[in-house]
Amino acid sequence: MGSIFGKPLVTQEEVRTRIRELGRQITVDYAQKDLVLIGILKGAFAFYADLARAIRLPLRVDFLVVSNRGGKAKAAGTIKVLTKLTEDIAGRDVLLVEDIVDSGRTVQYLRKVFGAQHPKSIKVCALLDKPDRREVEVVIDYVGFAIPNKFVVGYGLDYHQNYRNLPYLAVLDQVDEDGEPG
Ligand code: IMP
Ligand code: MG
Repeated sequence: MGSIFGKPLVTQEEVRTRIRELGRQITVDYAQKDLVLIGILKGAFAFYADLARAIRLPLRVDFLVVSNRGGKAKAAGTIKVLTKLTEDIAGRDVLLVEDIVDSGRTVQYLRKVFGAQHPKSIKVCALLDKPDRREVEVVIDYVGFAIPNKFVVGYGLDYHQNYRNLPYLAVLDQVDEDGEPG
């Protein structure tokens, strides 16, 4: 793997540098807080592991496996949370870690679900943001990179469960009218 995609959209070095910056910012913002870092799997696994180690604070780690059907089927209600948290988030400062925000529906849904569990605060950190694709308004508190409306893989992001281990972000070229690979 490595050469089939040509030039990366975001290189490994750019990702590394940006995650260090995000880590510094989160370290400042969450000093004296009770941080629970919740990774949204599978897509966030690579970003999460790097981000957690860039935050110089005590924190708790937790994860959720979430599936969402892409393309035309992607709408409210098709988002499935497949697992449960193991940490109690009541009274704690929750930071959701996502791979990419596209329509915004996943983040909207998760903010609602976790908001109901009485955290002290809830914020979202996404490696990537595709603002042109937004269908619902959501607040993304920390963004790694805003990218154009292209389907990307690598660094945790998949196309039909492939390419998640590509160490940089690459554009997948054949996309259908939904912006999903055809
Ligand atoms: P949203 O609910 O439409 O914001 O969808 C977010 C989810 O869609 C992400 O967590 C990804 O799993 C998936 N997704 C959106 N855009 C891409 C992409 O360009 N490549 C890979 N997965 C994507
Ligand atoms: Mg995915």
